[in-house]
Amino acid sequence: QHARGLTVQCVAAPEQVTTRVQRNKNMAKLQAGYLFPEIARRRKAHQEKHPDAKIISLGIGDTTEPIPPFIVDAMKKSSEGLGTLEGYSGYGAEQGTPALREAICKRLYEKVGRKPNEIFVSDGSKCDIGRLQLMFGADVTVALQDPAYPVYVDSSVIMGMTGGHNGTGFDNIQYMVCRPENDFFPDLSKAPRTDIIFFCSPNNPTGAAATREQLTELVAFAKKNGSIIVYDAAYALYISDPNCPKTIYEIPGAEEVAIETCSFSKYAGFTGVRLGWTVVPEQLRYADGFQVINDFNRIMTTVFNGASNVAQAGGLACLQDDGWKQMLDLVAFYKENAAILRKTFQDMGFTVYGGENAPYVWVGFPGQKSWDVFAEILEKCNIVTTPGSGFGPAGEGFVRASAFGHRENVLEAVERFKAVYGNK
Ligand code: MLT
Repeated sequence: QHARGLTVQCVAAPEQVTTRVQRNKNMAKLQAGYLFPEIARRRKAHQEKHPDAKIISLGIGDTTEPIPPFIVDAMKKSSEGLGTLEGYSGYGAEQGTPALREAICKRLYEKVGRKPNEIFVSDGSKCDIGRLQLMFGADVTVALQDPAYPVYVDSSVIMGMTGGHNGTGFDNIQYMVCRPENDFFPDLSKAPRTDIIFFCSPNNPTGAAATREQLTELVAFAKKNGSIIVYDAAYALYISDPNCPKTIYEIPGAEEVAIETCSFSKYAGFTGVRLGWTVVPEQLRYADGFQVINDFNRIMTTVFNGASNVAQAGGLACLQDDGWKQMLDLVAFYKENAAILRKTFQDMGFTVYGGENAPYVWVGFPGQKSWDVFAEILEKCNIVTTPGSGFGPAGEGFVRASAFGHRENVLEAVERFKAVYGNK
């Protein structure tokens, strides 16, 4: 074609090849991307715009400090063993090695009546939440704390337990609002019955740890309603307050209504190594009397082939006296970071929650949109945080700062925050 002397070539758009497979309609209900990849995308865009900026991440709760030596040595020995005839092993038990199941039980659960066969070792809590959802199926109803770790909501949506997004949240999910006004514990007198209740303590993102009284109330609520609590204890070792239980099974009767999931990720720096576990008590039964543990065993043996043998050797070392001590030191280090961040925001006049029994500090920016605050902090401080609303509607007006950073970065972040917000 010739137009005004220019030669314009028409290039046909390449033909789009499609399959005849319909997209899972539940996937289509999800909002944008999963929270943390979305944050990573924004961080990358900021870095491209400001190539020289030294960005500090207080965003995703990813550990940064080396794995303690006793634990690393155990993994080294295990991997070296794999290179020998005697030390080689292939598939292990899908539920984990008996030695590790026993060690987890002995260290954390024996005193609250749990048994090694109730402990299923895995590649992490996030994956176990997905597998629990697979076990429950699409026909159950779900409640969760708002704000909450996004995996509970998104996996419920993917499974088809929910309706569409209504602009605020998903239909058919009960959002149990947890804000300063209710001490971050839901008003259960107003909460409707659901089959499943996701509950995370210490909470990600608010950092609030539920007290013995609150958990007693939660267990009574689940019993009254015949619900199952999925109790996420991934940050339990960060609890200092003696009145906040480190496992739901400290509450009498919890074994009849609760599954607990936990992980080495935030204790021993295993976010990359991948190792966690889920406890399903023998006493926990479905409406027809069938034991839930049998179904979970069926799920694990069907869609999981056992955690890495090297990771399990590391997990075992975490639970031996030397490893346990080094692991607690690591937790204490991150807790110091949390205390530094908490104090910084407090000194600047912000209202701050969390950071005492958890590695997350929850900072209030009343009247502001969390994503706007996130963008402002990124722009002015070159610091990545996590917008509170990313964890649910009740997280609006907050941002979360993670304490999982190198100390020098945390201290540098403090200086940057002070320079921008010091005269608030
Ligand atoms: C977080 O930042 O909330 C956590 O790192 C997410 C996770 O543990 O998967």
